[in-house]
Amino acid sequence: MSITKKVLALGAVGLMAAGLAACSSDAEGATEGGDVECNVGISMPTRSLERWINDGEQLEALLKDEGCTVDLQYADNKTSEQISQIQNQIAGGAKILVVAPIDGEVLSPVLSEAKKTQDAVVISYDRLINGTEDIDYYATFDNAKVGKMQGEFIVDQLGLDDGEGPFNLEPFAGSPDDNNAKFFFSGAWDVLLPYVENGQLVVPSGKSPKSNDEWASIGIQGWASDKAQAEMDNRLTSFYSGDEKVDVVLSPNDSLAIGIEASLKSAGYAPGEDYPLITGQDADKANVKAILDGEQAMTVLKDTRKLGEAVFEMIKQIVAGDEVETNVTYDNTKFDVPTAQLDPVVVTKDNVQEEIIDSGFIDASELGL
Ligand code: BGC
Repeated sequence: MSITKKVLALGAVGLMAAGLAACSSDAEGATEGGDVECNVGISMPTRSLERWINDGEQLEALLKDEGCTVDLQYADNKTSEQISQIQNQIAGGAKILVVAPIDGEVLSPVLSEAKKTQDAVVISYDRLINGTEDIDYYATFDNAKVGKMQGEFIVDQLGLDDGEGPFNLEPFAGSPDDNNAKFFFSGAWDVLLPYVENGQLVVPSGKSPKSNDEWASIGIQGWASDKAQAEMDNRLTSFYSGDEKVDVVLSPNDSLAIGIEASLKSAGYAPGEDYPLITGQDADKANVKAILDGEQAMTVLKDTRKLGEAVFEMIKQIVAGDEVETNVTYDNTKFDVPTAQLDPVVVTKDNVQEEIIDSGFIDASELGL
């Protein structure tokens, strides 16, 4: 990643600019002269996770308010379904595609079709689409920082820098087909591996990658809660006996954390002194509740409203023919993709009120408060 000249003023994402659907501009810019019709296809991976529902519906609402034509589709975590939905959007006249890929490696042919037939502008959403020149922009949170925050949280809470330990750690990683998963894992593992190597962290299951490159060996396909639960069940029955307890679980996100927590609870772990420290990401309702109930120590909030606003801002610039403002680049193996990158925030019991409730991310009543 490298910093580009332009800095996206995220605090100042303007929502009020009028006339998106008017679509006429002769300004110069990345989309070569503007004149892009605001006809947008949004392709999200699944409805099974709260965050993608929020992501999709919010961006759809912002765009519709501006008079754009919008087609929002969810692909049930099936790559073939996502490809055919994008094909339909192209056939339906989409000039701008916003795609959160299920598999970051397989969309080249359909995006090449989008370029050839519609000259569509393609924005990779949250997850990077690799191996193609047929994308234009990327919008995401700093994914390596998400993992780093999880790793640093573990180090701080366990007092590893004060020499505390040894502690039993069980690390998990995200879906092997999701480009983000490797960033989450390596961000965390860069922080934690030295403590594994010096013995302050011990991994009884042996599922401890020797380097970041081996992360997929502990990846949970499709980010599925039930698969994470089964994996944790297996580790508990196969590698823990007698008084041996899990002290800490590196969970890259909230859907995995839910499965891991269910497994621990059914094995008899109860919130309190011996309950392991568990990380997460997304600030899903169930997990924020788990934080309040002492069943999860932290989550990383990636405010989907801000990501949606950043993409909305990009689309306005594209439609107007203005230069699209980005602040970093990500290498997708074909080129350095201009990217709007946002900062994540750690959420614990101590700042749920401020970051989640006062910010309006989740209503207090939905958390039973
Ligand atoms: C997203 C996470 C999400 C995960 C599972 C990742 O690509 O960045 O926010 O938890 O996918 O859907």
